Amino acid sequence: MDKLIRIAIDGPSGAGKSTISRRVASELGILYIDTGAIYRAVGLFMLRAGIDPADADAVAKVLPEVRVSLRHDGRGQRIFLENEDVSELIRTPEASRAASQVSAHPVVREHLLSMQRDMAKSASCVMDGRDIGTVVLPDAELKIFLTADVEDRARRRMLELQERGTPQPFEDVLADMKERDARDSNRPVAPLRRAEDAELLDTTGFALADSVNAVLRIVQDRIERMS
Ligand code: DC
Repeated sequence: MDKLIRIAIDGPSGAGKSTISRRVASELGILYIDTGAIYRAVGLFMLRAGIDPADADAVAKVLPEVRVSLRHDGRGQRIFLENEDVSELIRTPEASRAASQVSAHPVVREHLLSMQRDMAKSASCVMDGRDIGTVVLPDAELKIFLTADVEDRARRRMLELQERGTPQPFEDVLADMKERDARDSNRPVAPLRRAEDAELLDTTGFALADSVNAVLRIVQDRIERMS
């Protein structure tokens, strides 16, 4: 593909954004950028430093010390704190909660904005997050808002945790999901919401392959209209 295409995929936790985005990017041979991993790495940094991720002032104070970077290799995107690969460590429920908490602070969002924009400046990519279509890449060539019922998303997340060898009861996963939804949607800065020009895709009841195909159809349709 010779034209630049930046695909912004936003939506709540557990809607399948990252798996779908990764597959779509690989199908198109373009970069996949998971912005949630950046917030997760910042959250992990705070936990390790003994700082309450919900404490905006304390977080702001150490933020300049956080050296987070995304690198791409044969395994796809890896996330680093300094030179330590924390790609697996950021996936725990504690890191998820910390990520959601730090992401509510304007100072954190501001700090991470240029890094995200820079990555999408000259390369076609699929970038997923909460505010990609609304804030990070408002002029993306294609925006998709991916969602599903909260029970459905909690079920998927529960299976994912089981596969990872860290099972959690459904009620806990559901409660966590609802708490994160509320925090991500109600924060004053860059809340989770659908951009006006984003295609809405509700994947409730969809198998993963169906969701991937549905997104690919939207993408192909857009590419045809671009050429
Ligand atoms: O997509 P995820 O679950 O890995 O994201 C982790 C947290 O980071 C999530 O609770 C919301 C936050 N986040 C955000 O505020 N903005 C983004 N662009 C991506 C993630």
